[in-house]
Amino acid sequence: MLSYAGVSAGYAGVPVLRDVSFDVAEGEAVAIFGHNGAGKTTLLKCAVGDIAEVAGSVTYRDEPIIPGAVFRNSRRGIGFVPQGHNVFRELSVRQNLTISGLHHPKSRVEDVYDLFPILLERGGQAAGSLSGGQQQILALGMALMTKPSILLLDEPSTGLAPIIVRDVMASLTKINRETGTTVVIVEQNIPATLAIVSRAIVVKAGRVVFDGASKELERKEDLWGWF
Ligand SMILES: Nc1ncnc2c1ncn2[C@@H]1O[C@H](COP(=O)(O)OP(=O)(O)O)[C@@H](O)[C@H]1O
Ligand SMILES: [Mg+2]
Repeated sequence: MLSYAGVSAGYAGVPVLRDVSFDVAEGEAVAIFGHNGAGKTTLLKCAVGDIAEVAGSVTYRDEPIIPGAVFRNSRRGIGFVPQGHNVFRELSVRQNLTISGLHHPKSRVEDVYDLFPILLERGGQAAGSLSGGQQQILALGMALMTKPSILLLDEPSTGLAPIIVRDVMASLTKINRETGTTVVIVEQNIPATLAIVSRAIVVKAGRVVFDGASKELERKEDLWGWF
């Protein structure tokens, strides 16, 4: 569904990703791990074309992702939840959702409410008054307003208390299982993420050094040595 083939990418002539190749299949839940600066965010950006210097090919449903054409690429069904709780703080929860789905049927809000009842409960409340975890769930809901086939998430658990991390991870499982949405999640919280994905990819200095079953990664005695 989403394929990287010999992808190298960088900024201002400085290489970040080096010869990255992997495929994500429809319906999969895949984690991407790696140290700070390994190139994880850059990898996600390649999938929406938000990077200028890229060699090799990134394709989505067998059609190329066009560098620079973020809006056009995204409209093909790719949802991207950037790092940080990207919500409009002064707007209500409901307004945040409707704005995110401007080009989509209004009824979509109800689908998101069905998936995350907490957003219905807080519908009239300013997004900025929600807890960090609730804001992250709202950010997920906003991405879902466009009815993506694949959802890319950049460190959704950052800054959240462990108990809330569990809620967010459970939400992702729900999205993956109940709506069939493919999920690609970049995370630092490896244990919490391994619990919800079937496959993990480890990126080290811009190269893929592990790509396999999450169970296999879990079993590695020198797990941390992989990063
Ligand atoms: N917009 C940018 N301009 C220049 N360098 C960047 C930019 N974004 C990221 N980098 C550099 O690319 C490398 C990989 O960054 P990134 O993909 O954000 O890694 P990660 O998400 O794994 O922490 C880092 O060395 C970072 O400093
Ligand atoms: Mg990053």
